[in-house]
Amino acid sequence: MRDEKSAVTVLRVLHGDAENRLVRSFRPRRRKLGPELTRVYDRLRSTWSVAEHGSVLDLGAVFANDNPVCLEIGCGRGDLAIAFAPSHPDVNLIAIDIHTRGIANILQAIENFSLVNTRVVEGDVLVLLQRIAVASLDEVWIFFPDPWPKQREQSRRLLRPEVVAQLAEVLKPGGCIRLATDIEDYWRKSSDIIASSGFFAAPTVGRPEWRIETVFEKRGNVAGLPAVDMSFERL
Ligand SMILES: C[S@@+](CC[C@H](N)C(=O)[O-])C[C@H]1O[C@@H](n2cnc3c(N)ncnc32)[C@H](O)[C@@H]1O
Repeated sequence: MRDEKSAVTVLRVLHGDAENRLVRSFRPRRRKLGPELTRVYDRLRSTWSVAEHGSVLDLGAVFANDNPVCLEIGCGRGDLAIAFAPSHPDVNLIAIDIHTRGIANILQAIENFSLVNTRVVEGDVLVLLQRIAVASLDEVWIFFPDPWPKQREQSRRLLRPEVVAQLAEVLKPGGCIRLATDIEDYWRKSSDIIASSGFFAAPTVGRPEWRIETVFEKRGNVAGLPAVDMSFERL
């Protein structure tokens, strides 16, 4: 376990075998950025990215303020981050995805809206979590996680017991995990995993007014699969 104060300076790096043993919750996919987005990405990423590897982060120093910090895991194309960040200047947002396109879209929005409350991480959240200090996050958002519907692949789901325990560690008491999914089996099993962790209160159901409809949600709606929104408060 990391202790709260020294965690900020301790170097905790997940490399080599430990990282290779991670059960990845995403499908690797490489799509080229167009020339304009490539230029944006190359110009802005060093300023507004946080590396997935490295020492434990001092989030107050990263954002130069003590505002609440939310982590959006699997930001996809970046649509929610781009809608949320400009209208919530008093909230800090870290958006992570393994795929570059959404990261580049968010970088473009950072420039377009002169955002100072947003950082991006291109990488695996299971690696990044080693950099997050104990009880330092206010909210963790997991909206439309990869469903891994086949029984034999369900161990890849992001919300599995060991990840829930890690999320509990980095959340502040009173903070929360927000989950939205249109896969009933996902929210049922995730609720059970989160409940049996003992770290969270019983879920509340309801969509945050700021959660816009993303492409993934739209697809589910078209297929007759409405989303369920749940929030689990860290005890
Ligand atoms: C189904 S998409 C949903 C995207 C977005 N939240 C939305 O609602 O449009 C799930 C995303 O989670 C990302 N993802 C899955 N596992 C991840 C991980 N371990 N670290 C970072 N991103 C991850 C995937 O790359 C993918 O972009």
